[in-house]
Amino acid sequence: MNLTLKVWRQKSTSEQGKLVEYKVSEISEDMSFLEMMDVLNYKLIESGDDPVAFDHDCREGICGMCSMFINGEAHGPNRGVTTCQLHMRSFKDGDTIYIEPWRSAAFPVIKDLMVDRSAFDRVQQAGGFISVNTSGRTLDANAIPVPKEDADKSFDAATCIGCGACVATCPNGSAMLFVSAKVSQYALLPQGQVERKERVLNMVKKMDEEGFGNCSNIGACEVQCPKNISLDNIARMNREYLMASIKPEN
Ligand code: SF4
Ligand code: FES
Repeated sequence: MNLTLKVWRQKSTSEQGKLVEYKVSEISEDMSFLEMMDVLNYKLIESGDDPVAFDHDCREGICGMCSMFINGEAHGPNRGVTTCQLHMRSFKDGDTIYIEPWRSAAFPVIKDLMVDRSAFDRVQQAGGFISVNTSGRTLDANAIPVPKEDADKSFDAATCIGCGACVATCPNGSAMLFVSAKVSQYALLPQGQVERKERVLNMVKKMDEEGFGNCSNIGACEVQCPKNISLDNIARMNREYLMASIKPEN
């Protein structure tokens, strides 16, 4: 395939960026989108140009790093996959592809397609953990009965990879889908009960401090989430928040 790429180039957070056109040729339909980007970067390096900066790590859909808008859609045109799982067979020979970074006030661009998502880390640090005995006389996790339905819902919430597509897709820049997945993951399990109330209060407080917007039930986050995290988690987090706010000391 021969393709025209319109790639967002921005030298730093403080400098203005712009779309720059590149041509790539002989792209195999079996390549992943990131491998196609590698081809572009080899070409740029060979010609003495600055390669396009983009985040990536696992390249198998588990780390959440490969975050970018492709033709205006988070992680590209296919649902339930990350950019690294997107294959070039989803495009046609001669296509023009627009490639841009996440656009959200809480995720400033560092360079080109890389954004600073450390706000997510700080929200996670505010409550995304459980207290367990690590003395060596620990209780086997399997010794604690968990209803199958709760275990399934918790597992589904835990598949959130923190990519930030929900924030970037939301017109309000809301992080509610991400935060609610983290809150739900623990609230549904016996192991998460110790910090249950502090967790939701502290994570929501930090989410607001970091400049994320409010949820207005548009639902774009759920559509573009590569892990199909359900809006039900936001409803659960709102219930958790309400209960914790009424009696935070219990
Ligand atoms: S909820 Fe979905 S879109 Fe948001 S960070 Fe988690 S995996 Fe990414
Ligand atoms: S590189 Fe890890 S999810 Fe894509």
